Amino acid sequence: MKSIFLLSLNKLKKILAFIDRDDKMIIALNNKCNFKIEEFLTYQQELNKIVDNNLIVLCPTSLYLSVAKLDNIKLGAQNTSCTKEGAYTGEISASQLKSLNVEYCIVGHSERRKNQKESNEEIKEKITRLLEENITPILCVGETKEEREKKQVEQILREELAILNDINDKERIIIAYEPIWSIGTGLIPSNTEIKEVINLIKTNYPSNKVLYGGSANEKNIDELKKIREIDGYLIGGMSLHPEKIQEFLQKLKK
Ligand code: 13P
Repeated sequence: MKSIFLLSLNKLKKILAFIDRDDKMIIALNNKCNFKIEEFLTYQQELNKIVDNNLIVLCPTSLYLSVAKLDNIKLGAQNTSCTKEGAYTGEISASQLKSLNVEYCIVGHSERRKNQKESNEEIKEKITRLLEENITPILCVGETKEEREKKQVEQILREELAILNDINDKERIIIAYEPIWSIGTGLIPSNTEIKEVINLIKTNYPSNKVLYGGSANEKNIDELKKIREIDGYLIGGMSLHPEKIQEFLQKLKK
Protein backbone atom coordinates (compact mmCIF):
# COMPACT_ATOMS: atom_id res chain seq x y z
CA MET A 1 0.00 0.00 0.00
CA LYS A 2 2.77 2.38 1.07
CA SER A 3 4.76 1.63 -2.07
CA ILE A 4 1.70 2.26 -4.30
CA PHE A 5 1.22 5.58 -2.55
CA LEU A 6 4.90 6.48 -3.02
CA LEU A 7 4.72 5.48 -6.65
CA SER A 8 1.72 7.68 -7.36
CA LEU A 9 3.24 10.54 -5.36
CA ASN A 10 6.36 10.34 -7.51
CA LYS A 11 4.23 10.21 -10.64
CA LEU A 12 2.29 13.25 -9.48
CA LYS A 13 5.52 15.12 -8.79
CA LYS A 14 6.75 14.32 -12.29
CA ILE A 15 3.48 15.48 -13.85
CA LEU A 16 3.58 18.70 -11.82
CA ALA A 17 7.19 19.32 -12.81
CA PHE A 18 6.25 18.75 -16.45
CA ILE A 19 3.29 21.15 -16.29
CA ASP A 20 5.41 23.70 -14.43
CA ARG A 21 8.21 23.44 -16.99
CA ASP A 22 5.95 23.76 -20.00
CA ASP A 23 3.85 26.59 -18.64
CA LYS A 24 6.85 28.79 -18.11
CA MET A 25 7.95 31.09 -20.85
CA ILE A 26 11.61 32.04 -21.02
CA ILE A 27 12.12 35.79 -21.13
CA ALA A 28 15.79 36.57 -21.78
CA LEU A 29 16.81 40.20 -21.37
CA ASN A 30 19.83 41.15 -23.47
CA ASN A 31 21.12 44.49 -22.17
CA LYS A 32 23.80 44.52 -24.91
CA CYS A 33 26.47 47.22 -24.28
CA ASN A 34 24.32 49.53 -22.16
CA PHE A 35 24.33 51.15 -18.69
CA LYS A 36 27.11 52.71 -16.62
CA ILE A 37 27.56 50.93 -13.29
CA GLU A 38 25.36 53.32 -11.24
CA GLU A 39 22.61 53.08 -13.83
CA PHE A 40 22.85 49.30 -13.77
CA LEU A 41 22.53 49.15 -9.99
CA THR A 42 19.38 51.30 -10.05
CA TYR A 43 17.99 49.23 -12.93
CA GLN A 44 18.68 46.04 -11.00
CA GLN A 45 16.74 47.33 -8.00
CA GLU A 46 13.76 48.02 -10.26
CA LEU A 47 14.01 44.59 -11.91
CA ASN A 48 13.99 42.92 -8.51
CA LYS A 49 10.50 44.34 -7.88
CA ILE A 50 9.12 42.23 -10.72
CA VAL A 51 7.11 39.24 -9.55
CA ASP A 52 6.36 36.76 -12.30
CA ASN A 53 6.04 33.03 -12.81
CA ASN A 54 7.96 32.92 -16.06
CA LEU A 55 11.67 32.20 -16.21
CA ILE A 56 13.38 35.56 -16.57
CA VAL A 57 17.07 35.64 -17.48
CA LEU A 58 19.07 38.86 -17.28
CA CYS A 59 22.11 39.10 -19.56
CA PRO A 60 23.98 42.27 -18.56
CA THR A 61 27.32 43.32 -19.93
CA SER A 62 29.98 40.90 -18.56
CA LEU A 63 31.46 43.65 -16.37
CA TYR A 64 28.37 43.61 -14.17
CA LEU A 65 27.98 39.86 -13.76
CA SER A 66 29.87 40.01 -10.47
CA VAL A 67 27.65 42.75 -9.02
CA ALA A 68 24.39 41.16 -10.10
CA LYS A 69 22.15 40.43 -7.11
CA LEU A 70 18.93 39.14 -8.50
CA ASP A 71 15.97 37.84 -6.51
CA ASN A 72 13.69 35.95 -8.89
CA ILE A 73 15.75 36.34 -12.02
CA LYS A 74 18.45 34.05 -13.41
CA LEU A 75 21.81 35.36 -14.53
CA GLY A 76 22.99 35.08 -18.12
CA ALA A 77 26.00 36.30 -20.10
CA GLN A 78 26.11 37.77 -23.59
CA ASN A 79 29.16 35.88 -24.80
CA THR A 80 31.95 33.55 -23.76
CA SER A 81 35.31 32.43 -25.04
CA CYS A 82 35.95 29.43 -27.32
CA THR A 83 38.84 28.57 -25.04
CA LYS A 84 39.16 27.31 -21.49
CA GLU A 85 40.97 29.36 -18.81
CA GLY A 86 44.55 30.27 -19.65
CA ALA A 87 46.72 32.71 -21.59
CA TYR A 88 43.93 34.32 -23.62
CA THR A 89 44.09 38.08 -23.02
CA GLY A 90 40.71 39.73 -22.83
CA GLU A 91 38.69 36.52 -22.94
CA ILE A 92 36.09 35.32 -20.43
CA SER A 93 35.87 31.56 -20.06
CA ALA A 94 32.74 29.53 -19.41
CA SER A 95 34.27 28.31 -16.13
CA GLN A 96 34.72 31.93 -15.01
CA LEU A 97 31.09 32.63 -15.89
CA LYS A 98 30.10 29.57 -13.89
CA SER A 99 32.04 30.87 -10.87
CA LEU A 100 29.82 33.99 -11.00
CA ASN A 101 26.64 31.88 -10.94
CA VAL A 102 25.88 32.42 -14.60
CA GLU A 103 23.33 29.82 -15.74
CA TYR A 104 22.66 30.95 -19.32
CA CYS A 105 24.76 32.46 -22.10
CA ILE A 106 23.85 33.97 -25.45
CA VAL A 107 25.98 32.68 -28.33
CA GLY A 108 26.11 33.56 -32.00
CA HIS A 109 24.22 36.82 -31.71
CA SER A 110 23.98 38.40 -35.18
CA GLU A 111 25.75 41.52 -33.89
CA ARG A 112 28.79 39.38 -33.01
CA ARG A 113 28.55 37.32 -36.20
CA LYS A 114 28.70 40.63 -38.09
CA ASN A 115 30.99 42.85 -35.99
CA GLN A 116 33.37 40.23 -34.59
CA LYS A 117 33.08 37.99 -37.66
CA GLU A 118 32.14 35.03 -35.48
CA SER A 119 31.97 31.81 -37.48
CA ASN A 120 29.67 28.84 -36.96
CA GLU A 121 32.76 26.81 -35.96
CA GLU A 122 33.64 29.29 -33.19
CA ILE A 123 30.04 29.35 -32.03
CA LYS A 124 30.08 25.55 -31.80
CA GLU A 125 33.24 25.72 -29.65
CA LYS A 126 31.56 28.22 -27.34
CA ILE A 127 28.51 25.99 -26.98
CA THR A 128 30.76 23.04 -26.12
CA ARG A 129 32.60 25.08 -23.45
CA LEU A 130 29.27 26.22 -21.96
CA LEU A 131 27.79 22.73 -21.84
CA GLU A 132 30.95 21.47 -20.12
CA GLU A 133 30.20 23.98 -17.36
CA ASN A 134 26.51 23.18 -17.29
CA ILE A 135 25.56 26.64 -18.58
CA THR A 136 22.59 26.73 -20.95
CA PRO A 137 23.52 28.26 -24.32
CA ILE A 138 21.00 30.51 -26.04
CA LEU A 139 21.95 30.13 -29.69
CA CYS A 140 20.83 32.97 -31.97
CA VAL A 141 19.95 32.28 -35.60
CA GLY A 142 18.20 34.33 -38.25
CA GLU A 143 18.26 35.75 -41.73
CA THR A 144 18.94 39.20 -43.21
CA LYS A 145 16.26 41.07 -45.13
CA GLU A 146 17.99 40.22 -48.38
CA GLU A 147 18.11 36.51 -47.53
CA ARG A 148 14.38 36.57 -46.74
CA GLU A 149 13.60 38.31 -50.00
CA LYS A 150 15.65 35.69 -51.86
CA LYS A 151 13.71 32.96 -50.04
CA GLN A 152 16.88 31.66 -48.37
CA VAL A 153 15.54 31.56 -44.79
CA GLU A 154 15.43 27.77 -44.59
CA GLN A 155 18.92 27.41 -46.06
CA ILE A 156 20.43 29.98 -43.65
CA LEU A 157 18.82 28.37 -40.64
CA ARG A 158 19.95 24.92 -41.73
CA GLU A 159 23.52 26.19 -42.02
CA GLU A 160 23.45 27.95 -38.65
CA LEU A 161 21.83 25.02 -36.88
CA ALA A 162 24.00 22.33 -38.50
CA ILE A 163 26.57 22.86 -35.70
CA LEU A 164 24.12 21.20 -33.32
CA ASN A 165 24.18 17.93 -35.17
CA ASP A 166 27.26 16.51 -33.49
CA ILE A 167 26.68 18.01 -30.06
CA ASN A 168 25.56 15.27 -27.68
CA ASP A 169 23.40 17.29 -25.30
CA LYS A 170 21.86 19.50 -27.94
CA GLU A 171 18.41 19.43 -26.35
CA ARG A 172 19.87 21.57 -23.52
CA ILE A 173 20.39 24.42 -25.98
CA ILE A 174 17.78 27.14 -26.30
CA ILE A 175 17.42 28.36 -29.88
CA ALA A 176 16.52 32.02 -30.43
CA TYR A 177 15.11 32.90 -33.84
CA GLU A 178 16.09 36.53 -34.39
CA PRO A 179 15.52 37.82 -37.94
CA ILE A 180 18.39 40.29 -38.31
CA TRP A 181 16.24 42.86 -40.09
CA SER A 182 13.91 42.89 -37.14
CA ILE A 183 16.50 43.65 -34.45
CA GLY A 184 16.13 47.20 -33.15
CA THR A 185 14.08 48.28 -36.19
CA GLY A 186 10.50 47.95 -34.98
CA LEU A 187 9.85 45.68 -37.97
CA ILE A 188 8.45 42.24 -37.18
CA PRO A 189 7.68 39.30 -39.45
CA SER A 190 4.01 38.36 -39.66
CA ASN A 191 2.78 35.74 -37.22
CA THR A 192 2.53 33.29 -40.13
CA GLU A 193 6.17 33.91 -41.05
CA ILE A 194 7.36 33.49 -37.46
CA LYS A 195 5.26 30.34 -37.06
CA GLU A 196 6.72 28.87 -40.25
CA VAL A 197 10.30 29.34 -39.04
CA ILE A 198 9.63 28.11 -35.51
CA ASN A 199 7.91 25.02 -36.90
CA LEU A 200 10.83 24.41 -39.23
CA ILE A 201 13.24 24.57 -36.27
CA LYS A 202 11.03 22.36 -34.11
CA THR A 203 10.61 19.77 -36.84
CA ASN A 204 14.37 19.32 -36.96
CA TYR A 205 15.10 19.92 -33.27
CA PRO A 206 11.92 18.79 -31.49
CA SER A 207 13.45 18.79 -27.99
CA ASN A 208 14.76 22.34 -28.03
CA LYS A 209 13.01 25.41 -26.67
CA VAL A 210 12.66 28.12 -29.30
CA LEU A 211 12.49 31.83 -28.51
CA TYR A 212 11.58 34.71 -30.78
CA GLY A 213 13.67 37.90 -30.75
CA GLY A 214 13.56 41.11 -32.78
CA SER A 215 11.67 44.25 -31.70
CA ALA A 216 9.48 42.26 -29.30
CA ASN A 217 7.97 44.67 -26.80
CA GLU A 218 4.99 45.62 -24.63
CA LYS A 219 3.15 46.99 -27.67
CA ASN A 220 3.28 43.92 -29.92
CA ILE A 221 3.15 41.12 -27.33
CA ASP A 222 -0.66 40.83 -27.63
CA GLU A 223 -0.16 39.80 -31.25
CA LEU A 224 3.02 37.75 -30.76
CA LYS A 225 1.56 35.67 -27.96
CA LYS A 226 -1.00 34.23 -30.36
CA ILE A 227 1.86 32.11 -31.74
CA ARG A 228 1.54 29.07 -29.47
CA GLU A 229 4.79 27.55 -30.77
CA ILE A 230 6.94 30.28 -29.17
CA ASP A 231 8.57 29.19 -25.88
CA GLY A 232 9.69 32.68 -24.94
CA TYR A 233 11.38 35.86 -26.09
CA LEU A 234 14.88 37.31 -26.39
CA ILE A 235 14.56 41.01 -25.80
CA GLY A 236 16.99 43.85 -26.53
CA GLY A 237 15.70 47.45 -26.47
CA MET A 238 12.80 46.84 -24.10
CA SER A 239 15.10 45.07 -21.63
CA LEU A 240 16.47 48.47 -20.57
CA HIS A 241 13.07 49.60 -19.23
CA PRO A 242 11.76 47.68 -16.20
CA GLU A 243 8.31 49.35 -16.40
CA LYS A 244 7.92 48.14 -19.98
CA ILE A 245 9.08 44.64 -19.02
CA GLN A 246 6.40 44.69 -16.31
CA GLU A 247 3.72 45.66 -18.84
CA PHE A 248 4.97 43.00 -21.29
CA LEU A 249 4.74 40.31 -18.60
CA GLN A 250 1.27 41.45 -17.54
CA LYS A 251 0.02 41.20 -21.13
CA LEU A 252 1.69 37.84 -21.60
CA LYS A 253 -0.30 36.51 -18.64
CA LYS A 254 -3.74 37.52 -19.92
P1 13P B 1 15.59 44.31 -29.97
O1 13P B 1 14.59 43.75 -29.03
O2 13P B 1 16.13 45.65 -29.56
O3 13P B 1 15.11 44.30 -31.37
O4 13P B 1 16.86 43.34 -29.92
C1 13P B 1 16.68 41.99 -30.06
C2 13P B 1 17.96 41.33 -29.77
O5 13P B 1 18.92 41.49 -30.50
C3 13P B 1 18.03 40.51 -28.55
O6 13P B 1 19.18 39.74 -28.55
